[in-house]
Amino acid sequence: MIHEVVITSGKKNKAPIGIYLKEKKIIIHLFEGSHTYQNLMDDDYFVANICHPIEIAEAVLTDEDDYGYLNFDGKDLSYLKNAYKIFVAKVNKRKFITKRDNFGESKLMIVEGEIVFEKELKNTIIPYNRADGLLVEMAVIYSRLNNEKIVMKNEDREAMKKDMEKYFKIIKKVGSKRHVDLAKRFMSLSLF
Ligand SMILES: Cc1cc2nc3c(=O)[nH]c(=O)nc-3n(C[C@H](O)[C@H](O)[C@H](O)COP(=O)(O)O)c2cc1C
Repeated sequence: MIHEVVITSGKKNKAPIGIYLKEKKIIIHLFEGSHTYQNLMDDDYFVANICHPIEIAEAVLTDEDDYGYLNFDGKDLSYLKNAYKIFVAKVNKRKFITKRDNFGESKLMIVEGEIVFEKELKNTIIPYNRADGLLVEMAVIYSRLNNEKIVMKNEDREAMKKDMEKYFKIIKKVGSKRHVDLAKRFMSLSLF
């Protein structure tokens, strides 16, 4: 099972990333080309921030946030103060592979981290809103459409565009102003 979190790395970098949680281990598959990939090539630690879905979706658009810092082995590690919970992981393995799928060939770094610290920052209970999941789906489509390395067939691009429009309609019906504003940004920034 994959959980979507926000990975913070470097001084002030955040990105939505899917993680595999296995007991005390966090495994992430990073596509070559992102800042997170670059940071985790060099850094021995990263932080997995468990966040509200809006924060997950927003993280694909901006690095701006309220960051806190934790010191491990003399290094300052950034985390999101707004997260529900944070996991600090120490990298103990990196593996480099080439993956072939519908979107072509991509280079991946598989990073295995061992959880060395975890802390709950907030225990707010928020009822599920349908716009939450749809916004995360819009963020996934946005990141695919805007990835220069992904060469997509015209019909796939058209299908993604249709999905975006469908999700946007529902978000406008069921979401808050914050959901709708973010969805509007995805619609206007996606390269159709
Ligand atoms: C929900 C979601 C999950 C994602 N999961 C991954 C992932 O597992 N691996 C990856 O390399 N990129 C993933 N991405 C894409 C990155 O978040 C995206 O490339 C981002 O722009 C990288 O930011 P950075 O350059 O600041 O690291 C995901 C995007 C979304 C919206």
